[in-house]
Amino acid sequence: MGRDVIIACDFASGQQTLDFLSAFKEEKPFVKIGMELFYAEGPAIVRELKARGHKIFLDLKLHDIPNTVKKAMAVLSGLDVDICNLHASGTIAMMEAALEGLTRSDGTRPLLIAVTQLTSTDQERMEKDLLIHAPIDEVVLHYAQNAKTAGLDGVVCSPLEARKVHDACGADFLTVTPGVRFADGDVGDQKRVTTPAKAKEIGSDYIVVGRPITAAADPVAAYRRCVEEFVG
Ligand code: C5P
Repeated sequence: MGRDVIIACDFASGQQTLDFLSAFKEEKPFVKIGMELFYAEGPAIVRELKARGHKIFLDLKLHDIPNTVKKAMAVLSGLDVDICNLHASGTIAMMEAALEGLTRSDGTRPLLIAVTQLTSTDQERMEKDLLIHAPIDEVVLHYAQNAKTAGLDGVVCSPLEARKVHDACGADFLTVTPGVRFADGDVGDQKRVTTPAKAKEIGSDYIVVGRPITAAADPVAAYRRCVEEFVG
């Protein structure tokens, strides 16, 4: 899969999601289904969007003991999503177990990527709440390297970290990056943001874009603008 724009479908219901996507007549955007939508609608929404021809990033961020994550990943693998994810802080053993669970008997599997440190966690919270005292950039890179060691395909990270992750883990190691805004757009609650064009320049493989598309007056035009800037 090449560079692409993934729309974060952060809607409360399947109906809202389908209504939103029905505006796309010519293209079938890659979509991200997060916890809110998945917990509201269950696997049915994944099957529905798959049947409509969308590629799917199932963003459930698993984190538990290795055996539980392995079994849960085997279930997600049966849904035939394109990308799923977990927390790198669950350890290398957990990530290896996840990969095992995800791999089907014929050897195929969805891509598996890891969340390093959430972008809502800053240096102060990491030190005070988690007792992690290394600089956050080092922690992100270390977790990315752990993901690589476990055999994962990439990480979710800030676009601003994409180049460092590629330098440390290789050009083929995927960087999937939220925190994207148009130069003339609203930043909202995101702190470290980049434009689609800048994310391309830094080397993101996929950008995850929510409100700049979902809350736009013309979502299809906003999506096309993202694709034009990012994929070119
Ligand atoms: O609306 P917005 O473009 O900010 O949406 C970004 C999406 O990426 C949301 O679904 C958010 O949960 C997700 N995300 C993020 N930062 C992370 C991981 C995921 O913004 N570190």
